[in-house]
Amino acid sequence: MQIAELKGIALNSEEALQRQLYRYISGRVSEGIWREGLRLPASRKIASELGISRNTVTAALGQLCAEGYLSSRPGSGIYVGAGFDRAHPDAVHWDKSCELPELSAYGLSLAREAQAGGDKQLPFTLGVPDLKAFPLRAWNRLQRQQQNRRRLLGYDGYQGFEPLREALAGYLRVSRQVRCSASQIIITQGAQQAISLCAQVLLDRGEEVLVENPGYSGARRALQALDAKLTAVNVDAGGLTSSALPAQTNAKLMYVTPSHHYPLGGIMSAPERLRLLDWAARTGTWLIEDDYDSEFHFHGHPIAALQGMSSQSPVLYMGSFSKTLFPALRIGYLVLPTPLVAPFLNAKQHMDGESPLLQQATVAQFIEEGHFQRHLRQMRVLYREKWLHLSALIESRLAGLAQPVAESAGMHLVLRIPGVDDVELTREFVAAGFGGTPLSSYYIGGEKPRGIALGFANSDAAQRAAGIECLRSLIKDQQRR
Ligand SMILES: Cc1ncc(COP(=O)(O)O)c(C=O)c1O
Repeated sequence: MQIAELKGIALNSEEALQRQLYRYISGRVSEGIWREGLRLPASRKIASELGISRNTVTAALGQLCAEGYLSSRPGSGIYVGAGFDRAHPDAVHWDKSCELPELSAYGLSLAREAQAGGDKQLPFTLGVPDLKAFPLRAWNRLQRQQQNRRRLLGYDGYQGFEPLREALAGYLRVSRQVRCSASQIIITQGAQQAISLCAQVLLDRGEEVLVENPGYSGARRALQALDAKLTAVNVDAGGLTSSALPAQTNAKLMYVTPSHHYPLGGIMSAPERLRLLDWAARTGTWLIEDDYDSEFHFHGHPIAALQGMSSQSPVLYMGSFSKTLFPALRIGYLVLPTPLVAPFLNAKQHMDGESPLLQQATVAQFIEEGHFQRHLRQMRVLYREKWLHLSALIESRLAGLAQPVAESAGMHLVLRIPGVDDVELTREFVAAGFGGTPLSSYYIGGEKPRGIALGFANSDAAQRAAGIECLRSLIKDQQRR
């Protein structure tokens, strides 16, 4: 039997004719109106009946044959395909009324979590460098040179672009006193992926991990994704101290920010850092050292990394170009003890494959040609000025209302503001056009001191003055309520 009803299609000029014909025929077949084995008229006939070109018809029929709606029998014609009587669209019952598909326990916890805020680029948003001061012209010149290299269009390797790893190893050895060679470095998608990789490769579900309290919530979340049991180690304004470490522990990992505690800003003294290394070696605990912004120290020289303090350190060192260059790069790095390189590489391959080559090659050249060190030197001066300005504003306008927690600062500063609802205060501050993070949000369990963390790198003088005035009036408003 042959199909005769194709004449009935009402074609319009809003959509490609081939697409309309495809939709009409696939609809007839999948809804069971045209049954298996029916023969279609010849393509020439369809074309003349519909007043369209034969090429359009053959292209639509070709696509329908490729997808199984139709089947072509050489020498005989085109027929309706098989199997649609048991594969009707109405037979697919998906209960859209349920709120969520079935999620894992972790998925459920993510669904309950508040959405990350929309304050990503406001003055005082944490972790954003001064993007206006980034040497965009030099960067673009290097990127243009690199993008002409055909070698960078293909695959390269999961470990990361070798010239970048070489340049980075040189920089880390000299500037951060990290003991490493390029073969120990894995280039990651930001430090965030580095933390996730550590969790994935080292932790079994439900195992214990020690975290600084207060501490970086991004690290806690990455660890919790693996169902880690987090145990808080309390840290105060002076940084982590060995007396806060448990004498015995079953924890496999401890996440630390020894050179500049996140977020309070304390710096572990050299003897304390050696005690931490000794404790980790004795208790068999891996230390994940997140060296997120140590390039920016304003009292003397940057503090050397924990990793390089001993030749036998149980440390997985990580860093990122998010703060030293710009966050949208999404390039971070891990420096691993050699035996860990292979499993981490395989995990990286399975997680997201290679990191983008063009960006890696541009960073490599940026370091090799000295732009990186120059930029860091300039940013150290600039951020120090901003920090001094902000500190002076705080001293003069927030005296008696708020106290800065630590003497040191990288790109942010924490204020303790006793007695306020800091979540509400930060919400109001963001509504007024400023960024910031409530101090209490960095704590797990127990008493949560109140205050606000302010990132000052991404602010100008007028914004800092306006921000501190705004904060002053918001704190006073809360005190009056
Ligand atoms: C302490 C700390 N570690 C890691 C990261 C993640 O950095 P990345 O952008 O490289 O993923 C951040 C981001 O702000 C951070 O503050």
